[in-house]
Amino acid sequence: MHFRTRAIHVGQERDPATGAVVPPIHLASTFVQPAPGEWGKFDYTRSGNPTRAALEATLASLESGTGALAFSSGMAATHCATMLLEAGDHIVAGADIYGGTYRLFHKVIQRAGISVTLAPSHDLDRLRSALTPKTKLVWVESPGNPLMTITDLFACAEIAHRHGALLAVDNTLASPVLTRPLELGADIVMHSATKYLGGHSDLLGGALVTRDPELHRKLYFIQNATGAVMGPLESFLCSRGIKTLELRVRAQGETAMMLAQFLKSHAKVVKVHYPGLPDHPGHALAARQMQGGFGGMLSFEVKGDYEAAQRAAGSTKLFQLAVSLGAVESLIEQPSAMSHASYDRADRLAHGITDNLIRLSVGLEAFEDLRDDLAQALAQA
Ligand SMILES: Cc1ncc(COP(=O)(O)O)c(C=O)c1O
Repeated sequence: MHFRTRAIHVGQERDPATGAVVPPIHLASTFVQPAPGEWGKFDYTRSGNPTRAALEATLASLESGTGALAFSSGMAATHCATMLLEAGDHIVAGADIYGGTYRLFHKVIQRAGISVTLAPSHDLDRLRSALTPKTKLVWVESPGNPLMTITDLFACAEIAHRHGALLAVDNTLASPVLTRPLELGADIVMHSATKYLGGHSDLLGGALVTRDPELHRKLYFIQNATGAVMGPLESFLCSRGIKTLELRVRAQGETAMMLAQFLKSHAKVVKVHYPGLPDHPGHALAARQMQGGFGGMLSFEVKGDYEAAQRAAGSTKLFQLAVSLGAVESLIEQPSAMSHASYDRADRLAHGITDNLIRLSVGLEAFEDLRDDLAQALAQA
């Protein structure tokens, strides 16, 4: 079946008890057992829940995996993956990663004796030279966040595997509509389901998807032992959001492309980062790796300094000033002050996340309305 058919039907079979075309939400925290010591399909919602299992089946199908786990947030999913590691192990992470992932890697899991090196994952030589015999995990995003760098996931998988490390890909920005890292050799796909999967800014969630059943079993063990599972209501909302995922992502990408072109020719904009533009350094790779679109995220540098970007980002009326991304409503933010404020300033600047950078998450509003809103905001910069 095609992607958009699976998004509607896999895991979302009609309810056999009532014939309801939408499976019900199972809020029960515990399930009756056949006899002491005998277990049914479900026993306790932390260990498994029918509504969460339905979402996990959809996610595994859409990411071309064999198993998926849904978490209470994207960070909980990322944390679970890092708990595969032990003291003395090393992570190589792309330089252009979500600020919260940077914070988790540098300020939390280092306490468990796990070291981290940031390397620009779009520069394969620099990525390769960051790996050591202790590297057990390579963590990348493509497109990167917030500079939209494109990373060759197939090549990263080869590099990681040659060193005996796993490749994990945060696929939040691309979504499985545009990129399916497991098909390119990645071992783990991670999502902030809060973003495109949910798609409506009304749930917090995360996911890990794998192909290798043994790796799934290890991650399931950690998830069940630590407990950061997605709740039944969020699982239901996420399944509902996923039914329109392909339509949303494709429409958002088309509008983002037109906005990128508009911004590129604007006198108050010095640089636009969007992989759909032919002069983006990752354009050719993105055209190969991303399937039929370049996504709904872009960033741009305003002429001037921190204050100029602050004035522009604070002056939109339709674009709402908020972190997060991937929903039907368009959002605007200043990474240095918002999504990437948890980076050390020196690291942030070294990786090109400048003070005058603005990031857009393009929603489903009409292009003309979004363009006019940006035009009036840039006039304030
Ligand atoms: C690319 C990316 N990865 C991970 C996360 C973390 O996900 P959550 O906020 O659901 O914990 C975010 C959140 O903004 C994100 O943008």
